[in-house]
Amino acid sequence: MRMKILVTGGAGFIGSNFIRYVLKKHPDYEIVNLDALTYAGNLDNLRDAEEQAGSGPVSRYRFIKGDIGDAALVSRILADGIEAIVNFAAESHVDRSIDNAGVFIRTNVLGTQVLLEAALRLRVQRFIQISTDEVYGSLGATGKFVETTPLSPNSPYSASKASADLLARSYFETFNLPVIITRCSNNYGPFQFPEKLIPLFITNALSDQSLPLYGDGLNVRDWIHVEDHCCAIDLVLRHGRAGEVYNIGGNCEMTNREITRTILQELGKPETLIRFVKDRPGHDRRYAIDCSKLCQELGWAQKYDFKTGMHNTVTWYLDNREWWARVKSGEYMEFYKRWYGDR
Ligand code: NAD
Ligand code: TYD
Repeated sequence: MRMKILVTGGAGFIGSNFIRYVLKKHPDYEIVNLDALTYAGNLDNLRDAEEQAGSGPVSRYRFIKGDIGDAALVSRILADGIEAIVNFAAESHVDRSIDNAGVFIRTNVLGTQVLLEAALRLRVQRFIQISTDEVYGSLGATGKFVETTPLSPNSPYSASKASADLLARSYFETFNLPVIITRCSNNYGPFQFPEKLIPLFITNALSDQSLPLYGDGLNVRDWIHVEDHCCAIDLVLRHGRAGEVYNIGGNCEMTNREITRTILQELGKPETLIRFVKDRPGHDRRYAIDCSKLCQELGWAQKYDFKTGMHNTVTWYLDNREWWARVKSGEYMEFYKRWYGDR
């Protein structure tokens, strides 16, 4: 069965991996990628996908530069036969949301509402809202998030994502728009912008720069390889039930200290590079995900174990120094100096 999908935020980390995954897995699918190309959006992430999709009128892939908050543009794109939307577009970095929350509300909340409204009017058959486990807040030493765990976001980022989830839910309940929400844990893998823990620490270590570990470094995250996340989204897109939430997780809880040590060992760099710095305000202590619903209902199984996934990821950053050297410049360095300067 062919399908024409609007992927938003497809020039970012997960979106670009998802486009590559879908074009390869489903030779009959067409993708339109709407991305505003913020600091985190990078068309270099998609060069191989473009080649794979062919060019000219037969191409299965088209890029449109634009904002998900632009209602007229979104409606025009949807009117051209779009059957499903996968909404990745977002401001995605917690630290930036602490530094300046306004754009998180504009894109993550208002932008999502514009997409929902246009999807309703143009009768889109599927709307996948890509959310995060961070909407559930923080766990103590035991327990896991299930889909019915109450939302209790602690950062402006997670609050904006939780708001979008509630709006998405309301469009299902009120208007019967076939919305599905996915909530995934922390992703790692190729093309991740080097502001997030794993690529920041890999690239800093490669440049013999210090690794700024927040607080006591004992906060716990659940880690999943991005390709396993993409596989889960593809299953939800094709077989998920409208109105449902699906948790996605990697069954891999690690402290930030453990992650840091793994990176240093992979690269053969000394632990003296670690610098304990002032904690992130409102820093969630622990995330853990129960994704048995996804496994049982949709038959999802993870492909990557953490050791292999991390080895491949470190190798990718070693092999793609040009890619990250280019993005670790300009506006990014200004944020880096401002944020880490007085920590
Ligand atoms: P990212 O920051 O790498 O990419 C975001 C993309 O969205 C960029 O290409 C950017 O240009 C685009 N964008 C931003 N504002 C836009 C706008 N107004 N209109 C159109 N495009 C816009 O983010 P990511 O890590 O790939 O995350 C993608 C999605 O997955 C986000 O919704 C995030 O909340 C969610 N998520 C991420 C993780 C993770 O570990 N990275 C985990 C769970 C969920
Ligand atoms: P991050 O990659 O920003 O993802 P999130 O906050 O969305 O989970 O951070 C992952 C963990 O790493 C989190 O506990 C914060 C910590 N961290 C540091 O200790 N130092 C850093 O410089 C960064 C960016 C994150």
